[in-house]
Amino acid sequence: MNILVTGGAGYIGSAAVKKIIQEGHEVIVIDNLSKGKKELVDDKAKFYEGDLINLEFLKNVFSKHKFDAIMHFAGYKAAGESMINLEKYSQNITSMINLLDNMVQFNVKKIIFSSSAAVYGEPQYTPIDESHPLNPINYYGFTKLECERIIDWYSKQKGIVGICLRYFNVMGDAGLNYRDPDAQNIEPIIYEVLSGKREKLLIFGNDYETPDGTCVRDYIDIKDLVHAHTLALNLNSSDIINLGTGKGTSVLEFVKKYNIPYEFSSKREGDPATLTASSKKAKRLLGWIPKEKVIKN
Ligand SMILES: NC(=O)c1ccc[n+]([C@@H]2O[C@H](COP(=O)([O-])OP(=O)(O)OC[C@H]3O[C@@H](n4cnc5c(N)ncnc54)[C@H](O)[C@@H]3O)[C@@H](O)[C@H]2O)c1
Repeated sequence: MNILVTGGAGYIGSAAVKKIIQEGHEVIVIDNLSKGKKELVDDKAKFYEGDLINLEFLKNVFSKHKFDAIMHFAGYKAAGESMINLEKYSQNITSMINLLDNMVQFNVKKIIFSSSAAVYGEPQYTPIDESHPLNPINYYGFTKLECERIIDWYSKQKGIVGICLRYFNVMGDAGLNYRDPDAQNIEPIIYEVLSGKREKLLIFGNDYETPDGTCVRDYIDIKDLVHAHTLALNLNSSDIINLGTGKGTSVLEFVKKYNIPYEFSSKREGDPATLTASSKKAKRLLGWIPKEKVIKN
C-alpha cells in the first residue's frame, strides 16, 4: 500500500513509519517539525516538511502520490496549553478538514485517526468503553471529538472509511531510542529523575480511592499501539475503538519498580482516581491483544 503518515516525525508517527515500512508498504510523511524531528523519520520514507493547514502544500503532495490510506498522527496534544492557546489547537480541526477535503478530491478512501481518551472527560465508570458519555474537559479533547464527528460526516456523505483510535496513556520506546519528551507523562519524568535531570518525582495525591491511594492509569506500550494501527488498515468500515490494555497501573507501582526518590504533593484539579479502558472492541474488531509489559522486569 501507499500510505500517507501525517506527524510521521513525532513520537508515535515515527514508530509507525518504521513498522509499516518493515511490513512492505510505501510511506510518505508530512510533518511541520513543530515538535517532530526529521532524524526520527525512516530513510526509506519520502518526507515533506509542511503544515496541514496549508491547503496549497497539501494539494501538491496529494497530486504527486496515489494514497491507499492515511494515518493521521499530526496534531498538537498538550491539554494544559490547549486551554490557553485555543487558536493553535483549533488547527487540529482545520488540518482534519483539509485532509478530508483532499481525500475526497483525490479519491483516497481510508483514514486512521489518532483520537484520545480525552474525549471522555471525567469517567462515569471504568473500564471506559466506547459508549461512555463524551464530555471533554479541555480544549484538546474537544478538538479530538470534533475531528471524530467531522470524520463521521465524511464517512456517511462521502464514503470515506474513518477509523478513530482513542489512545489511553502511551509510553515506551519503539526502538528509535526516543521517548515522548512531553514531561506530563510519568515515564519521561521517571527517566529525568534516573538521569539526574530532575531531583525527584512529585506524586499528586495519595488518598485516592485506589489500592495504594495514588492515581491509576491505563498505560499502553507504543509497540502495541503501532501494531493496532497496522491491523486497522484491514478494516473496511468506519468505527471508533479504544486503545488501552484494560489494566491499570498506579504511580506508586512505577516508583517502586524504578526505586526513585519521590514526594507526595496535593491533588491536581481534574485528575480522576482511575482511568482504564475497555479493550474488548479492539480485540473483537482488530484481533488486537497487547503483549508488552508496562513495567518491565
Ligand atoms: N502520546 C500520547 O500519549 C497520546 C495519547 C492520545 C492521543 N495522542 C495523539 O496521537 C498523535 C501523535 O502523538 P505523539 O505523541 O506522537 O505527538 P508528537 O507531538 O510527538 O507528534 C505529533 C507530530 O505532528 C506534527 N504536527 C503537529 N501539527 C502539525 C500540522 N498542523 N501539520 C503538520 N505536522 C504537524 C509535530 O511536529 C509532531 O511531529 C497526536 O495527534 C496526539 O494527539 C497521543
